Amino acid sequence: MMIERPVSAALYDRATAVMPGGNTRVTVYMKPHPYYAAHGKGCRITDADGVTRLDFTNNYNSLIHGHAHPDVIAAVRDQLERGTAFPMASETEIDLAEHLCARAPSFDHVRFCNSGSEAVMFALKAARAHTGKPKIAKCEGSYHGSYDFAEVSLDSTPATWGNADPKSVAYASGTPQSVLDEVVVIPFNKPVESERILRAHARNLACVLIDLMPNRGGLIPATPEFVAMLKRVRDDTGMLIVLDEVITMRLDYEGAQSLYDLRADLTALGKIVGGGFPVGAVAGSADVMAVFDPRQTKTPLPHSGTFNANPVTMVAGVTAMRLLTRDEIIRLGALGDRARDGVAAAMRAAGMPGQVTGMGSLFRIHVHDRPLSDYRSMLMTAAEKDVLGAIVEYMRDHGVFVNERGVCSLSTPMGEAEIDAFLDCFRDALAFVGGQTQAAD
Ligand SMILES: Cc1ncc(COP(=O)(O)O)c(C=O)c1O
Repeated sequence: MMIERPVSAALYDRATAVMPGGNTRVTVYMKPHPYYAAHGKGCRITDADGVTRLDFTNNYNSLIHGHAHPDVIAAVRDQLERGTAFPMASETEIDLAEHLCARAPSFDHVRFCNSGSEAVMFALKAARAHTGKPKIAKCEGSYHGSYDFAEVSLDSTPATWGNADPKSVAYASGTPQSVLDEVVVIPFNKPVESERILRAHARNLACVLIDLMPNRGGLIPATPEFVAMLKRVRDDTGMLIVLDEVITMRLDYEGAQSLYDLRADLTALGKIVGGGFPVGAVAGSADVMAVFDPRQTKTPLPHSGTFNANPVTMVAGVTAMRLLTRDEIIRLGALGDRARDGVAAAMRAAGMPGQVTGMGSLFRIHVHDRPLSDYRSMLMTAAEKDVLGAIVEYMRDHGVFVNERGVCSLSTPMGEAEIDAFLDCFRDALAFVGGQTQAAD
């Protein structure tokens, strides 16, 4: 039984009069109505009904320091007094660019925009502009934001995905066939099949777009063999590797690419690099990033944006990223291990099918124990969706905010006590859901 939230219900009534379905961001929509946030501090968030919960969502993995970090507030407050956006460049963009370029060896140059979707879009456009080739490849089931080409085959189903070689399937209604024709879809973590498909399209392929641990694809890490295959095809064909590190940048100081000894040609960044403010960035080799350089007679890829590198985002971002030291990443990784071990142990103890995926400060709860390797293997049956939904609802009703897919992220205000509180709540949720299932049998 979901706990009543009358203030949120009333706010939603107002919202439905002025927004389609009362909603402006599909991820926060839920039945019978969304949660409305009132305020957050550290790793806790309080909703409009006055209920405070531990936040294991962190605005969909974007708040690495939780809510209202004092250093970020101080930097932003100082900037607010000086102005929020100018028709001029500002030193703040150089500060964040210098910090990011010093972090990862593959980041020679960086370019800012306002969302991860935009970052992916400009990375793909840069790959096309640099290579002169029209097609992009991506993995079935991987989410990369809302650029038409990047959305292809995001939610393929057994009815639409074709055979072992995935078909290009439209995500949004109205996607032109021409978009589908320009996107080559490969199966994640299947190096033999993917290599064959990539080589067959190599003549027209600008790049492959890869998230090394796609969260919608199950938060399953790429295998070393899969990444080795991508490097081999790049070396042989000239196809670029575009990494989507919008989420995975948090996994290591240099991003997840360092865990695979992979030097991306281009990397799309977002979420944590804006310190809690809207952000996107494309980083990459000077050679490829030169497509953005306006000093040419005709810039190959003109890129503008009214709020690109706005100083509020820049100062928040550089403050947050400086605080995300190697030591903090290691500490969060150990907390992540504690959470993953605890979730797996709780499921075993409850005698429930289930497993946990993820790495570092990210983990995802699965409620089946079939082997996991890619998007197709991760999909749940309708009954399994109900079980996960019941676990998530129970946890939200008992003080822990978890996202509806069971994807969880940690933030630096957390310590062992918060992980243990999560696990206590998770064990109670399993007992509750297990009891309900038995009663229904
Ligand atoms: C891996 C990945 N890429 C891109 C995006 C798009 O970022 P944004 O929501 O800032 O447009 C997201 C957002 O969740 C993401 O998870």
